Amino acid sequence: MALLNAVRVNQGYYMHHDMLGEKGDFVTSPEISQIFGELIGIWYVSEWMATGKPKTLQLVELGPGRGTLTDDILRVFNQLGTLLDKCDISIHLVEVSPKLSEIQALTLTGGKIQSEIDVTSPVYMKGISKAGIPIFWYRELQDVPQGTSFYLAHEFFDALPIHKFQRTEQGWREVLIDIDPKAPDQLCFVLAPSATPATEYFIQGKEARDHVEVCPDAGILIQRLACRIQEDGGAALIADYGHNGNKTDTFRSFRSHKLHDVLIAPGTADLTADVDFSYLQTMTQGRVATLGPLKQQEFLKNMGIDVRLQVLLQNSSDTAMHKHLLQSYDMLMNPKKMGDRFNFFALLPHQRLAHSDQKVNLQHSKSLSAPVAGFGELVWK
Ligand SMILES: C[S@@+](CC[C@H](N)C(=O)[O-])C[C@H]1O[C@@H](n2cnc3c(N)ncnc32)[C@H](O)[C@@H]1O
Repeated sequence: MALLNAVRVNQGYYMHHDMLGEKGDFVTSPEISQIFGELIGIWYVSEWMATGKPKTLQLVELGPGRGTLTDDILRVFNQLGTLLDKCDISIHLVEVSPKLSEIQALTLTGGKIQSEIDVTSPVYMKGISKAGIPIFWYRELQDVPQGTSFYLAHEFFDALPIHKFQRTEQGWREVLIDIDPKAPDQLCFVLAPSATPATEYFIQGKEARDHVEVCPDAGILIQRLACRIQEDGGAALIADYGHNGNKTDTFRSFRSHKLHDVLIAPGTADLTADVDFSYLQTMTQGRVATLGPLKQQEFLKNMGIDVRLQVLLQNSSDTAMHKHLLQSYDMLMNPKKMGDRFNFFALLPHQRLAHSDQKVNLQHSKSLSAPVAGFGELVWK
């Protein structure tokens, strides 16, 4: 699995084409409706206010796709102009794909990028947003400067490589990928003949499931985020499909919006596995408080999606636009569509929650909401 995902990242899938949208392999929430990113923008401003309005605000997005989510967030920041007036805002994008970073630059800067970059710097591209905010591109989170930062990862963790394990009569075995002995041009799943080091390391004695998937890269990344937030403050919002340590076999692939055999033509289809939020929580090692996972429909409701929808409907008399707004609302909120499938999970400094209700009910903490009513300065346009 790790091998297949490495092929996906390094040799093709994300590197050289735009897989998002109707003509691609899958559609993500920010591409469905502008409301999605706008409400996430409100959440960040609310967290920035709750941390005492620090003078700098670094927004760091991991895997920004086409840049649509950050673009929608920046529109909200712009609308809140007077509130953020004295704040030094910068955008930091962690992206491995040359193709997608090119599209992000177009979305966010209209093509105003600086290509002459100091080769000793981890910044591989720089630009200025339409509203004059500096934007920097990196390949890894470790390269993003330290400092109070607000991190965002939407449909990013599910793209990271996983290990798969299966319980057998001989004990736990890792599921590996091999050349199919019956068809040398094809791949097949095989069980490791004995326990691999990964099996020893990742399978807990009390494990009750028969199949387990573990994403060590997600564990490392969440540790890094937790350390940064513990040291410098800020917050992280992770949104993805996932579970709380109870699902088994979720590794799958999509091509042209249809399920695809994960072993066929690696590098040409989207490989994905549900995010184990309980594992993410464990891997924070108590350095930060965690909230969620909270279903997407609840998060967006808490953030005021209904108010925003009404304003957009009132602003337009175009029936095609009304239809689009209502259909995209349904896609994001309907429990049978994305409403229950996607979850929001947040990391916050412990002190941020010291006087709130975090000990009562983390699942539904008010910190995964920021009612628009609290934003006197924001008049939705
Ligand atoms: C499924 S797309 C999600 C895009 C976007 N967040 C959205 O929701 O529309 C995954 C994104 O993560 C990037 N990506 C995948 N693996 C990565 C890695 N190891 N490091 C940095 N970026 C990566 C991809 O190039 C792509 O931009």
